[in-house]
Amino acid sequence: MQIRAFDEDETDGVRQLLDAAFDGVAESRIVRALRAADADTLELVAEDHGRIVGEIMFAPVTGRTTSGTELYGIGLGPVAVAPDVQKRGIGSALIEHGLEYLKKLGVPFCVLLGDPAYYKRFGFTPARDINWFWEADPEATYGDAFQLLSLSGAPIDVTHVTIAYHAAFAADED
Ligand SMILES: CC(C)(COP(=O)(O)OP(=O)(O)OC[C@H]1O[C@@H](n2cnc3c(N)ncnc32)[C@H](O)[C@@H]1OP(=O)(O)O)[C@@H](O)C(=O)NCCC(=O)NCCS
Repeated sequence: MQIRAFDEDETDGVRQLLDAAFDGVAESRIVRALRAADADTLELVAEDHGRIVGEIMFAPVTGRTTSGTELYGIGLGPVAVAPDVQKRGIGSALIEHGLEYLKKLGVPFCVLLGDPAYYKRFGFTPARDINWFWEADPEATYGDAFQLLSLSGAPIDVTHVTIAYHAAFAADED
């Protein structure tokens, strides 16, 4: 299996993969909208013997502190693995490759919305622990699902931050 950058020719294959993994079209719509908005900072695919078996997207997010300072980081997701090959390490490989690349680029932090039981293995912790919230869920009704990871090698020392995802994420609402 090989992890590499997404190629435009794989648009249909990735769409089918996302729709199968999520059992719906919302995530593939978001991915297409992110590409169209040039907000596809990093999109990787997992290829196994010529077949696309996994995909991950990283897109820009903006943070705002209570004093109005803006922070720029990255959001992980969607990430998907073909249903018949899940639980074989493909999702982990996509996530680890992506995070390593973004660290080298100097991206300071990564956020995501997902199951903490899965993402804690990569070092993600609940964002609300240091009062970071997703703007669409300021009361953290999703509990620990909104998560944060420092990519700088040092703990994040800024607290009370509201994170906004790229506007293309609204593509799942039409
Ligand atoms: C989530 C997903 C990307 C993980 O990819 P994967 O290749 O199956 O995962 P890996 O093989 O790297 O890791 C497997 C481990 O993660 C666990 N795991 C997978 N999904 C999980 C979840 N939602 N919650 C908790 N644990 C999960 C498995 O139980 C397994 O645990 P183990 O290592 O203790 O045996 C994949 O299952 C998938 O595409 N799911 C449907 C789409 C989705 O929910 N995407 C994430 C939201 S953006």
